[in-house]
Amino acid sequence: MGIYIYNLAHKYAWKSMKEVEIQATCDIIAKRAEKAYKDIVAKNYYTTIGDLLSNDDIDVVDICAPTHEHARLSIAALKAGKHVICEKPLARNLESATEMLKAAEKSGKGLYIGHTRRFDQRWRKTKESIDSGKIGTLLYIRRCERTWLPFPPDYWHWDPEKSGGVLLDSGIHCANLINWFFGSKPKEVFARGNMIREEAKANGVHDLVTVMIRYEDGKTAFIDVSWAFPMTYAPFYSSRDIFGTEGRIEYSDRCESNGIYSRQSGFWWVW
Ligand SMILES: NC(=O)c1ccc[n+]([C@@H]2O[C@H](COP(=O)([O-])OP(=O)(O)OC[C@H]3O[C@@H](n4cnc5c(N)ncnc54)[C@H](O)[C@@H]3O)[C@@H](O)[C@H]2O)c1
Repeated sequence: MGIYIYNLAHKYAWKSMKEVEIQATCDIIAKRAEKAYKDIVAKNYYTTIGDLLSNDDIDVVDICAPTHEHARLSIAALKAGKHVICEKPLARNLESATEMLKAAEKSGKGLYIGHTRRFDQRWRKTKESIDSGKIGTLLYIRRCERTWLPFPPDYWHWDPEKSGGVLLDSGIHCANLINWFFGSKPKEVFARGNMIREEAKANGVHDLVTVMIRYEDGKTAFIDVSWAFPMTYAPFYSSRDIFGTEGRIEYSDRCESNGIYSRQSGFWWVW
């Protein structure tokens, strides 16, 4: 279910799993559901979640619908006895997220959220380097994810009620990575949102947000996320700067000297 991220990533992942039988596709726009059904070679296509869930041959539902629909669709699928894979963010707000988790617990079915960064080799390597003590005690992480949001002003991303703005949409990736690297949860958060582009001002949604996070023992993180970053290339720009007592790890999408620097050996390993 979905169009952009479905066509960019999910479709290929499902196609590559030969042991999986694709039963059906679903989109509220019939021609999208039909196109996806033909393309992935499914047995049926639907335009409502109700019809999809009444198909007893379906074990797992993969939700790529807009963020504000995650909770409703996931809860319905879990109640119907299906396992759920749902795109990030978990839900639009804490209340819906809690309901989703309760529904998963009650159903005994799996609820997996698509925090894809954790499966990216670059961030897995970073996590391994941190955990192996290569840079000593971790002190500070800076992470940015920026893009020029290409969608028209009436698209759901620009509606704060639907997407939660750039902080929820992109910031969730940063927060998820940083919590994972630190292996703990934030103690204190300070954030400042801005509306830069005309689409953001017209819709009252933040398109540039900076966030400071304090973790235990004085560990600190800084996030900046933006939909107003001038760029013509797709899909987006990200960078990460991590330092510990004994070294640092740097990575940027546009830099050729990404790597790990050790303070003790003075050596720079380029990835
Ligand atoms: N993991 C990542 O890196 C990543 C990247 C991009 C998007 N996403 C997430 O994926 C989700 C979808 O984003 P997108 O950019 O692909 O959106 P999109 O607007 O391109 O596609 C959403 C599709 O869902 C359909 N839809 C809407 N409501 C529906 C419903 N109730 N039932 C069935 N279909 C419905 C729409 O018609 C549309 O075809 C978002 O939650 C977004 O945060 C994740």
